[in-house]
Amino acid sequence: MKIISVVGARPNFMKIAPFIKVVSANNESQEEQIEHILVHTGQHYDDRMSKTFFRALNIPNADINLGIGSGSHAEQVGNTMIAFERVLLNEKPDWVIVLGDVNATLACSITAKKLHIRVCHIEAGLRSFDERMPEEINRLVTDRLSDLLLTPDELSIENLKNEGVAKSKIVFVGNIMIDTLESNRVKASNLIINEIIEENFIQEQKSNDLNNFNSPTSHFALMTMHRPSNVDKKEILEPIIRFLLDEVSLDMPIIWPIHPRTQNQLQQFGLWDKAILNEKLILLNPLGYHEMLKLNMEAKIMLTDSGGLQEECTVLGTPCLTLRWNTERPITLRKNGGASVLVGNNISRIREEYKNTLKLNRSPDRPKLWDGKTAERVLKAILNTNN
Ligand code: UD1
Repeated sequence: MKIISVVGARPNFMKIAPFIKVVSANNESQEEQIEHILVHTGQHYDDRMSKTFFRALNIPNADINLGIGSGSHAEQVGNTMIAFERVLLNEKPDWVIVLGDVNATLACSITAKKLHIRVCHIEAGLRSFDERMPEEINRLVTDRLSDLLLTPDELSIENLKNEGVAKSKIVFVGNIMIDTLESNRVKASNLIINEIIEENFIQEQKSNDLNNFNSPTSHFALMTMHRPSNVDKKEILEPIIRFLLDEVSLDMPIIWPIHPRTQNQLQQFGLWDKAILNEKLILLNPLGYHEMLKLNMEAKIMLTDSGGLQEECTVLGTPCLTLRWNTERPITLRKNGGASVLVGNNISRIREEYKNTLKLNRSPDRPKLWDGKTAERVLKAILNTNN
């Protein structure tokens, strides 16, 4: 059997790592070999957004890189389809595996399907019900076309059934990203926060002498934000920055590994200089997997609009404010046993929940099948469907 797996952007890399490991294990122990080809669309191209993860998670170099880079959504999707079609015509795989909800997921599932190649979607069935989110469009189209839909939780199964997806195509496998978290926990916990900061400090920023994270009682907030709905409009981004600088930073330092999109927008809107001058706001370059995991393990509170971090906060128990009005991952919400609460981007709501959340302690949760063994179930589901 020949499988092509596709990755394109940062959140895909931690999801493919455990699958590649189980394919190798299969090939060592079973007679019937799986030929696996890894395709990187090149949507994320910076070392810090891509290569770092391949190295840290022992992902073999991509066999094929489509070199797509940045551009509008139509450019990214269109260029990926044109380049990926050539790969499929050459390689003729039995399966194409796509992950998550990035533009590569959409582009490659459509391309494969048009060539009558079977598509397996890992992380199927998540729905924010917000079609203004580019990722929601990617999820809807990919799930509509996929032959095998592997879901991370049971709520996702319900979403798919409600959309009329045949039960026979759906398999509940759990959350593959948690496989990666579990196999890297120990390595991450041995890192030292002050070193992470020193090594990733954004150059032009002042020195970080005022903050010391070596003491176990030193609190800090951890921040990430990159969604277009939060960072592409000055009238939304500016009040959030003001809240961080004028309020949160009075309680504790804020560590913020900053996404390239957000850094660009802060610079464009004239907010960058103000942000870097505040000594309690520690702006870092995008971090590696273990570094981010370590910070998440120790943070007093997380503020984020990332989907993956909501999930990691659930398992680690980090109290989390999700800077969105909706989530495709309701299992991560406090009301469903998780660690996060939706606060959108309205400052009075963020402030109120921030104050409530500061009173909370860590409370880890483990949703069903988030057990570190999802990749094995993924491969089993594919082998079962192949027969
Ligand atoms: C993408 C995904 C999103 C995911 C996020 C995680 C889609 C539709 N969105 O959003 O689901 O949560 O990745 O990071 O696929 N850039 C760089 N260096 C890079 C990559 C991007 O500078 O390595 C810049 C681009 O030039 C662009 C901006 O960052 O200006 C946004 O990149 P883009 O690939 O459009 O999407 P993300 O916002 O990263």
